[in-house]
Amino acid sequence: MATERGDVAWLEAGSGWPVVLLHGFPFHAEMWRPQLLAAPEGWRFIAPDLRGFGRTPLHPPPEGAITMDTYAADVGALMDALKIEEAVIGGLSMGGYVAFAMFRQEPSRFTSMLLADTKAPADTAEGRAGRVRLREILAQQGPAAIADQMLPKLLSSDASRDVVADVRGLIETGAPAAIDAAIGALMKRPDSTPDLPRITCGALIVVGDHDAITPPSDAEVMQRAIPRSRLAVIPGAGHVSNLEQPTAFSRVLADFLLSRL
Ligand code: MLT
Repeated sequence: MATERGDVAWLEAGSGWPVVLLHGFPFHAEMWRPQLLAAPEGWRFIAPDLRGFGRTPLHPPPEGAITMDTYAADVGALMDALKIEEAVIGGLSMGGYVAFAMFRQEPSRFTSMLLADTKAPADTAEGRAGRVRLREILAQQGPAAIADQMLPKLLSSDASRDVVADVRGLIETGAPAAIDAAIGALMKRPDSTPDLPRITCGALIVVGDHDAITPPSDAEVMQRAIPRSRLAVIPGAGHVSNLEQPTAFSRVLADFLLSRL
């Protein structure tokens, strides 16, 4: 769809109050397929492709380099184009970082927030060094090598072959330029910790019990700092908990939404 900031693609399912689901790095909207298929009655699930991912083109943003604010403003522009003023807004991992950026830009658009397998702090120096190495691997070997690097950390050791293949497929179909731009945005993202007490809408925090990238301890920090928040730990799941345990994830999301009717 054409928005004020360029074309943005998205997937959607259901009808009713909007729930905007933001994907992680380096995925695209398809990662929300199990939740789209399980959208509870009365809710409209909308999963945008962030700039450069999936079917959304990587056109240069008006502000120059791509940051979390770029993705956030793009999602705000998609909501404007869809004539959606307020929604439940949230995401998984990088999608959570984008949700924090959206909250800083337009807090009044949030009726509730979802923070799945994500964390508030910025990258550490060690984390940034890892991103620089990932960039080099991407430049030399492409997205398949990124999948090789990331897969052991994204899923628990018990993940089924199908889930591993799905996650690999999501990464391998990514455009190198979009992945590179997102790595830059991840490295530059600000610390969202000071924002946590200001999140006064209800928040659902979800984490896989085996999440090695944003472990349950990060989720507990967010839960303690966000006044009206609930924490759900998903057993038998790593970082991409919505794909590894889709039924359990969809159930905690539906329970949260229905409890807020
Ligand atoms: C993601 O899943 O979006 C990334 O792992 C986030 C990160 O690396 O910080």
